[in-house]
Amino acid sequence: ESTTDVDVSAIEPGQAIKSVFRKQPLFIRRLTDAEIAEANSVPLSALRDPETLSDRTLEGHLSLLVTMGVCTHLGCVPLGVTEGENRGEFGGYFCPCHGSHYDVAGRIRKGPAPTNLVVPEYTFNTDTVIRVG
Ligand code: FES
Repeated sequence: ESTTDVDVSAIEPGQAIKSVFRKQPLFIRRLTDAEIAEANSVPLSALRDPETLSDRTLEGHLSLLVTMGVCTHLGCVPLGVTEGENRGEFGGYFCPCHGSHYDVAGRIRKGPAPTNLVVPEYTFNTDTVIRVG
């Protein structure tokens, strides 16, 4: 068991970064106000794996989305972290292996993946650093 510390203070709204947690890619994303509103506008009935943005973020930190960067279909690494990459039809992440589209909350919206991108256990270690694991 190992933990990963990540300074999230420099991630601007609309940006994401990639880190590594237990040898797997970890995505950390700062949502814009518009993305938060978009995520909150989706009825749970429209979701294959129904979770709200609040369910997937820490209390008081609705704008910070921390997920594994591992497609829940067959484990490819989705696109959408790096600026200019294809974020798919729902503006979050896109897995090019078989075409899974995730929304800004990392929820599966279209394509073969069965479940949302996994949110690992994490806490704020300081005001600016999260500890994952
Ligand atoms: Fe991502 Fe198949 S591994 S769509």
